[in-house]
Amino acid sequence: MEKKCIVVGVCGGIAAYKICSLVSSLKKRGHEVHVLMTKEAESFVGPLTFQTLSGQRVVLDMMSIDYEPDVHHISLARKADCFVIAPATANVIAKVAHGIADDMLTTTFLAADCEKLLVPAMNTYMLENPVTQDNIALCRKYGMHILESASGYLACGDTGKGRMPEASVILDAVESLLEKDRYLSGRNVLVTAGPTREDIDPVRYITNHSSGKMGYALARAARNAGAKVVLVTGCVNIEEPVNVEMVHVTSAAEMAQAVLERSQEQDAIIMAAAIADYTPKEKADQKLKKGDGELYIELERTTDILLELGKRKKEGQVLIGFAMETENLLANAAGKLAKKNADYIVANSIADAGAGFGVDTNVVTIISKEGEKSLGLLSKDETAEKILSYCLK
Ligand code: CTP
Repeated sequence: MEKKCIVVGVCGGIAAYKICSLVSSLKKRGHEVHVLMTKEAESFVGPLTFQTLSGQRVVLDMMSIDYEPDVHHISLARKADCFVIAPATANVIAKVAHGIADDMLTTTFLAADCEKLLVPAMNTYMLENPVTQDNIALCRKYGMHILESASGYLACGDTGKGRMPEASVILDAVESLLEKDRYLSGRNVLVTAGPTREDIDPVRYITNHSSGKMGYALARAARNAGAKVVLVTGCVNIEEPVNVEMVHVTSAAEMAQAVLERSQEQDAIIMAAAIADYTPKEKADQKLKKGDGELYIELERTTDILLELGKRKKEGQVLIGFAMETENLLANAAGKLAKKNADYIVANSIADAGAGFGVDTNVVTIISKEGEKSLGLLSKDETAEKILSYCLK
């Protein structure tokens, strides 16, 4: 994505330490990052840490002696494409909801006219207090975006809502606000991701090595391009994308049901999931006990979802399948394109360095009636962006 200017306002809360990782990730993504800190934040993380990670002078208090008279808060406010306050304390939320500008952070925030994201992090009782809830509602009314707090153990010893989401979730939320080329605006896109699990008995199942990373990257990229995205996912270990409707499934049969019952509303369906082609015919109710001899498990075919989608494809709907092959990549992928009535097959070979399971990169070739397009070695995020713009723009 295009590189942007992001201002990160850090308030005094224990979650401030997680912002080091956010600043570092934003910088690695190529963005220009400026950090503003409240006096209280300085008690939790030293400004030098943010200065080193961002490569920019950290803006502290308005009244400090080395304050440069370049009306810095105004210049920064004008430059910003996105202003994130994280952790956003109950105090700062109350201030920005009412236009109070009594320090550098809140003054710059008030002067900024860009996408604004608040990431509340506080004690559960403070968060649930109707005063805070009203302030959050007011911030929403003024067009600020609020990232939902996570639940879990809080530093104060309580357990509940109020935890700050991980830096990767905040990064995802920021990038989803920044993408301006919304060529999928008004379109519904369904993406499948991850492996399925086929139960043998209550403790054992058959699955595959899919990590789900490619499908999640596609869901994020489609959302960033403005689509209304449904992500039907098998069991994976990835942060859920924000602003995406999540549907969790386990088996191929559940995935088939989830996809097919939503298929008619979709403008595009991207089948990136690694769906089991076979499932045990009998699923034992009790754990199978070992005997002396060999064990044979009879397998039966699952529904080929893409094939079904191809049969019921509606006018204008785009179907994108994946083909992961170990040999005859292009011939096998072209065969799937025709057999399943798909518009595109994204083919990759697990033999290629940088492609395949678990890694963050991929090497794919997109096959369609028009021919082949190779994308080369890219991150899965970049691969996703390129697949979408090639197939759906
Ligand atoms: N697929 C599907 N339903 C299945 C199996 C696969 O919708 N039961 C989809 C995958 O999500 C992928 C495409 O079909 O988009 C190709 O999957 P793949 O397993 O590579 O191909 P198969 O058609 O199953 O053929 P084979 O396993 O023989 O290579």
